[in-house]
Amino acid sequence: MAVRIALLFVGIALLLAAPLTQQHEVFSYGKETDKWGSLNPQFSECSTGTLQSPVAISKENVVYNPMLKPLTRHYTATNATLVNHGFGIGLQFENDGGVLIQDGKNYTLKQMLWHAPAEHTINDETYPLELQLIHVADDGSISVVAILYSYGDPDMLLRQLNSKIHQLAQEKCGGDEEAHISFSGLKTKYLKRNSLKYYRYVGSLTIPPCTTNVTWNILGKVREVSKEQIKDLKAPLDEGCKDNARPLQPLNGRKIELYDAKHEN
Ligand SMILES: *[C@@H]1O[C@H](CO)[C@@H](O)[C@H](O)[C@H]1NC(C)=O
Ligand SMILES: *[C@@H]1O[C@H](CO)[C@@H](O)[C@H](O)[C@H]1NC(C)=O
Ligand SMILES: *[C@@H]1O[C@H](CO)[C@@H](O)[C@H](O)[C@H]1NC(C)=O
Repeated sequence: MAVRIALLFVGIALLLAAPLTQQHEVFSYGKETDKWGSLNPQFSECSTGTLQSPVAISKENVVYNPMLKPLTRHYTATNATLVNHGFGIGLQFENDGGVLIQDGKNYTLKQMLWHAPAEHTINDETYPLELQLIHVADDGSISVVAILYSYGDPDMLLRQLNSKIHQLAQEKCGGDEEAHISFSGLKTKYLKRNSLKYYRYVGSLTIPPCTTNVTWNILGKVREVSKEQIKDLKAPLDEGCKDNARPLQPLNGRKIELYDAKHEN
């Protein structure tokens, strides 16, 4: 377990382009989320940060911003590594994941992470699944595109990964190293679809070290996923992480901006 978590932080350090050398602690969900900040000095923002994620998006805190631009995504990824972090399933990319262009700035796709149930809520609705696409710019700034899912037809992205996720569930018993399975031929076509609506705010990573100044873009279009697919995503996870949504964090005065291509003035 300790090995797995240490590897995870190598992953996050790469993501943030800031080496973390210390030994790191295991974290889990439920009541344990209150303790994240005290697990390790590097995690202190999890308890002291005032601009954290996820948040509740609601009519009361959303403001339409006509200056926001469409999100442009050129995802080229075909080769990726499916990873069981223990706290969640991720799909990691080398530097060929593709590009998100946000306000004229390029961010490279580094990792996709699934959270079930979803972490962000919209108008008090909790969705069963949230996919977070984590991008990092050359200067280290982080931007996340989040996609919410409700129950329905199977999701096409997860369908491609189905057999590999089953494999992960079996590898879990093999030892305590983070399980990795490489994957080629990934089709990301449907992830690139133009989004006519998204919510934007500045928050944090939703896992330790809860790094702040992360730009969030939560897509307004809710997609569908089957119950079976969610069950499969949870199967390989550690006990205590089967429901891997961090509780909602206070906005503390933040407003959530709305981009809406169809907004009528
Ligand atoms: C993707 O993986 C395939 C098969 O392993 C390999 O032939 C190909 O060169 C890889 N593509 C890239 C862009 O790395
Ligand atoms: C940003 O990404 C686009 C699409 O991949 C590319 O055409 C452009 O050259 C990139 N710009 C910079 C500054 O890297
Ligand atoms: C937050 O990120 C933005 C770009 O995403 C950057 O311009 C700004 O300097 C950052 N602020 C801090 C306090 O790191």
